[in-house]
Amino acid sequence: MEVSQNATSALLTISASQLIQPIMHGLASLLLLGSCAFQAVLGRPDVSRARREGVLLQRAVTDFIATEEQIALEQLLCNIGASGCHSQGVASGLVIASPSKAEPDYFYTWTRDAALVLKAVVERFAHEYDGSLQQQIVNYIVSQAKLQTVSNPSGSLSDGRGLGEAKYLVDGSAFTGGWGRPQRDGPALRAITLIGYSKWLVANGYTSTATNLVWPIIRNDLTYVAQYWNQTGFDLWEEVNGSSFFTVAAQHRSLIEGSALAKTLGTSCSACDAIAPQVLCFLQTFWSPSSGYALANINVNNGRSAKDANVILASIHNFDPALGCDAATFQPCSDRALSSHKVVVDSFRSIYNINSGIPAGSPVAVGRYPEDTYYNGNPWYLNTLAAAEQLYDALYVWQTSGSITVTSTSLAFFKALVPSVTAGTYPSTSDTFTTIYNAVFLYADGFVDKVSQYAQTNGSLAEQYDRNTGAPLSARDLTWSYASFLTAIARRAGVVPAGWAGSNQAATSVPGSCFATSQGGSYSTVSVTSFPANQTPQSSATVTNTFTTPTVTTSRASTTTGSCPQGTAVAVSFTVRKTTIYGQTVKIVGNNDKLGNWDTSKAIALSASQYTSSNPIWSGTITLTPGQSLQYKYIVVNTDNSVTWEADPNRSYSVPTGCTSTATKTDTWQ
Ligand SMILES: *[C@@H]1O[C@H](CO)[C@@H](O)[C@H](O)[C@H]1NC(C)=O
Ligand SMILES: *[C@@H]1O[C@H](CO)[C@@H](O)[C@H](O)[C@H]1NC(C)=O
Ligand SMILES: *[C@@H]1O[C@H](CO)[C@@H](O)[C@H](O)[C@H]1NC(C)=O
Ligand SMILES: *[C@@H]1O[C@H](CO)[C@@H](O)[C@H](O)[C@H]1NC(C)=O
Repeated sequence: MEVSQNATSALLTISASQLIQPIMHGLASLLLLGSCAFQAVLGRPDVSRARREGVLLQRAVTDFIATEEQIALEQLLCNIGASGCHSQGVASGLVIASPSKAEPDYFYTWTRDAALVLKAVVERFAHEYDGSLQQQIVNYIVSQAKLQTVSNPSGSLSDGRGLGEAKYLVDGSAFTGGWGRPQRDGPALRAITLIGYSKWLVANGYTSTATNLVWPIIRNDLTYVAQYWNQTGFDLWEEVNGSSFFTVAAQHRSLIEGSALAKTLGTSCSACDAIAPQVLCFLQTFWSPSSGYALANINVNNGRSAKDANVILASIHNFDPALGCDAATFQPCSDRALSSHKVVVDSFRSIYNINSGIPAGSPVAVGRYPEDTYYNGNPWYLNTLAAAEQLYDALYVWQTSGSITVTSTSLAFFKALVPSVTAGTYPSTSDTFTTIYNAVFLYADGFVDKVSQYAQTNGSLAEQYDRNTGAPLSARDLTWSYASFLTAIARRAGVVPAGWAGSNQAATSVPGSCFATSQGGSYSTVSVTSFPANQTPQSSATVTNTFTTPTVTTSRASTTTGSCPQGTAVAVSFTVRKTTIYGQTVKIVGNNDKLGNWDTSKAIALSASQYTSSNPIWSGTITLTPGQSLQYKYIVVNTDNSVTWEADPNRSYSVPTGCTSTATKTDTWQ
């Protein structure tokens, strides 16, 4: 997984033929093709307008992301104790839902919200090593070991019931007021997050840390899932005491992934293996073929339609790129998940004033469920972002698998975007693929654009935005809103999480009949006092199923032995690690003729031929004079030819002298 030394040996020469980008980066051409295809398909009179709108939307979204990403990360971290800027009095590692202490009072730590937030942090960390994020993760783990032992109104650790408590005070003590309890998604989600970090530990040579410090906490949560999965509890919105699709989906994932981690650590989770197939079996029963969506809650009679963003959230949080469009696990691109996406999104079209006048098939503000009355029922940032994220996930799978399949189940979803489409499988070489791909991409961007439109002007994301005015509403700076933003934009950039199903057949094979079995187990108090101080990534780690940070080699200068003729030219291979979005090109520009004399229109385009989502490198070779001193920077050129510069300072490089005729310079975007 290292940034390849090949960059040197392959000696790429910049030529027109090498400026091609892999399909991940082909949006510019897709967009162009797509608008033509659009014309043919839809008979749209004003193609250039449609295309212009698409480009403008993409630019608006790209600009929003460029400023919001840093804000989202900073604000998310503000909500983690003990040192977060909005977390005075919060114990180390605990994540508050929001700094809001009144109307509403969200100054508590919820097991679910915290796990989902840390899941996003772990993902970001695993993608690109960051010691300060690692410290947050470690603090969280230590805090959760303590929290597991706190007796509360749901029960205690002795029989596991206490693990189902929804929320705690910010000092880590029990909340004893009335509440919707238990909430059985919390332990499953926490296990998933801790498993994610454990996989990183194993991949980087810290298996004993995973085994001794993290696994015992995970084991308690998995035991809880296996024991109580078949009992009702409150859903993620804390209102319905029944069986929730989101909860059951998380439970299934946790057992499958927990079993795999156990094996990796040289132990086993027999309860996981016994129960996981039954949870998957139960999950299928939420799907209503006649209605075309997964019911959000069953085993409850509350008069609701059961149309709920619950299902969209379940699909993004159980995304495994290797599962393709598997329908049993409701993968984001599965026909069931896409059909549910349409039904849920459509349920908000007519009920929110801010959605009025928006035509069918266009993005709208997305709330929790249409019957919602909390704060009069409004769109939520995190649900609007989830609607985008599911589609970005789908785009990733279609692109990497090379085809899109439209079934009778997903036909309505696709037809809303591309009216002429019919059921079938469309290879990536087909016009239909391109048309659908572009339409879904723009649709996804449209949801992010809603968030951009209704976010506070300084970038703060509250919980909700007003159904009539779009103004931010309810709890301010909701931690989960920020986490949702970060994962959605990562998917947009082609950065996907490690998978969870591995090679386990049980992950997707549904038993012929479902049984109401459960398995009890024992729970143990875990005391994690200290983590090894230094857990830096190991470059030698062999990694499967998780991201690593590739080791970057800097300037491999020649070693000179003996004498040799001084060369007149050195082919310098420049490689930069930069995650880009569809349609962007990375170029190099600098202070000599070869580098365009700082004129961005003369910058040298790099090739993305070695680009992958986990190793996003752009490279190219430029012939330079030995001993020359350069100043340069990388730039990103967008589809509309606007340019994004790297941050200062200018980079410096001296072309080597001596025997060498080749050299490499490897950088990471700054
Ligand atoms: C328990 O599992 C059975 C079999 O899948 C299912 O019919 C039942 O609704 C489940 N009950 C709960 C509360 O999960
Ligand atoms: C919710 O359902 C569970 C049964 O699984 C029950 O123990 C609990 O008391 C119920 N909670 C409320 C508030 O009704
Ligand atoms: C935005 O402004 C509000 C006050 O209106 C403040 O509470 C919040 O912290 C600000 N957010 C950011 C990201 O600066
Ligand atoms: C980088 O180089 C350009 C062109 O010489 C110059 O205008 C700019 O000030 C330099 N930036 C820094 C931070 O030195």
